[in-house]
Amino acid sequence: IHNVCVNSSSEGSLIVAKEIADLIKEKQNAKTRCVLGLATGSSPIKVYEELVRMHKEENLSFANVVTFNLDEYYPMDKNNMQSYFYFMHEHLFNHVDILPENINIPDGSVNSEDLYQYCIDYEMKIKSLGGLDFQLLGIGRTGHIGFNEPGSHLNSGTRSITLDHITRVDAAPSFLGIDNVPRKAITMGVGTVRSAKRIVLLGWGISKADVLKKTIEEEITSQVPATYLQNHKNTTFVLDIGASSELT
Ligand code: F6R
Repeated sequence: IHNVCVNSSSEGSLIVAKEIADLIKEKQNAKTRCVLGLATGSSPIKVYEELVRMHKEENLSFANVVTFNLDEYYPMDKNNMQSYFYFMHEHLFNHVDILPENINIPDGSVNSEDLYQYCIDYEMKIKSLGGLDFQLLGIGRTGHIGFNEPGSHLNSGTRSITLDHITRVDAAPSFLGIDNVPRKAITMGVGTVRSAKRIVLLGWGISKADVLKKTIEEEITSQVPATYLQNHKNTTFVLDIGASSELT
């Protein structure tokens, strides 16, 4: 892992948005698609804000971009304001020229009987497009990336998972109480994430300092799934002062 420490999440977000925009343009010039793995939550909001600004003010086009979101609650209806589908449209997709057919977000409304095959198909679709060129990540206090909670395997693929209690506690405010937070989710696997050619993880604020110390400085363990990024060849953690405060 390569660490970049920045003074603020705003500063870090601009750097990351610039990298994504440069990749999109590079692929445009090569007349190929750009396959992006995207995250939701508070961490990437300013990255999306900057990408929208670049689209509006600098003509950055998303016409060649295909996206795969990391995860979605299960069960979850698209129209629900707590859905990651809603989040992505609100923060990015509604404001840029991405083709609707190029947007992939795990569908929280598939029948439970179809879920297993649905996840396999999601994984296959990523592969069939040549894999993820870039994966954007946040990190949960459990050490999850996507919703790969403690216990997740190194080579796990897209699948349904039971959310950790701490993850549900952290999501409770936006659901107006923990009882409303879904118990499950669909997530890309650790293997899916690690297959990306480039990974950037965003860490903002002191609440992430402890898990980031474990992730970066302690041994690789399924108990902190983000540690699986340690031996990925092209991963950068972009951290603000609070998030990097426990690092030696
Ligand atoms: C979201 C995701 C999660 C979040 C993590 C951090 O798609 O996959 O791993 O990145 O829970 O959430 P925030 O950014 O809200 O602190």
